Amino acid sequence: MPMKNLGLSIIAVLILALLAIGIAMSHGMAYLLTVIIPYVAFAVFLAGFVYRIIKWGSSPVPFRIPTTCGQGKTLPWIKTNPVENPAGFWGVVARMAQEIFLFRSLFRNTHVEIIDGRPVYGSAKWLWFFGLMFHWSLLIIVLRHLRFFIEPISPLIGALSAVDGFFEIGIPALYLSDIALLTGLSFLFLRRVIVPQIRYISLFTDYFSLLLIIGIVSTGLLMRHFFPADLNAVKTLAMDWVTFSPVAPQGISAVFYIHLCFVFTLMAWFPASKLMHAGGIFLSPTRNLASNNRMQRHVNPWNAPVKVHTYEEYENEFRDKMKAAGLPVEKE
Ligand code: HEM
Repeated sequence: MPMKNLGLSIIAVLILALLAIGIAMSHGMAYLLTVIIPYVAFAVFLAGFVYRIIKWGSSPVPFRIPTTCGQGKTLPWIKTNPVENPAGFWGVVARMAQEIFLFRSLFRNTHVEIIDGRPVYGSAKWLWFFGLMFHWSLLIIVLRHLRFFIEPISPLIGALSAVDGFFEIGIPALYLSDIALLTGLSFLFLRRVIVPQIRYISLFTDYFSLLLIIGIVSTGLLMRHFFPADLNAVKTLAMDWVTFSPVAPQGISAVFYIHLCFVFTLMAWFPASKLMHAGGIFLSPTRNLASNNRMQRHVNPWNAPVKVHTYEEYENEFRDKMKAAGLPVEKE
């Protein structure tokens, strides 16, 4: 079954690539891919993303459920950990920033081995390392791509590209972020294929997302280093998209169409897939709530009204009897 998921996703990605080659050969279809589909894919991405965020955002979170990994705020002489167990807003901000930029909780990843019949836990940082490498390089690549969509090109993007191609290996220069992205992606993919436990739980969507991104990166690298795309035509096309006056380009290579076909599929697929963790992380109650249960009583707003009988009322009712029985009372 798990191998079937891998096979199906390979087939799905191959079908997309073949479709793109077919599109490259037909003028009408190229019009569809470069003029209509960009807007459809973007609209699906935006609407789907917003829909899922609103749906999560409006889900009830009646209780404080932050996971904590440090001493919470308590008596003044006890050392607290304001980030791992944040009591206030800024602690939560620092915690979220660590999570988003450094994948803090993945850093705690452990693996377990049975040694002499006993489970032995050890630290496992590879997933954190390659996961972080993959996400940061993807961000850098997407930022570099802004050069197609902005005129004049911001000097920041120029500087980013210059630093990224600093070693000037080859012409055009090989970007460090491309190598990092490919390395990270290869690890994430091989981990699913090789580790039997991970393979067992891997679904079609897990493989498909990875393969789509692998497809985008490979075709991008092919364009940059082996089958150069007409970058002027690409820039004109991208500027036409952002100014809402798209015209189907002429004579752009099939590799570019495959690149685009994968990108638009990824955009439309994004809100329906687990890639939505990009937005979901911000709404994760185990991370974004302050752990202030000791200072503040949080009442579930959906609690049905319950008639309570407080201790004070109890004592008022039975004070005489309690005193007569010799029981201690709070008020005389
Ligand atoms: C999810 C979005 C995208 C990703 C992850 C991505 C990834 C990549 C990668 C890794 C490369 C290799 C070279 C480099 O890093 O610059 C590349 C090249 C390229 N991409 Fe993309 N791409 C995306 C979207 C797009 C879009 C929307 C366009 C259309 C404007 C585009 C056009 C190109 C072109 C023309 C190249 C060749 C650049 C060159 O020769 O220097 N890409 N892409």
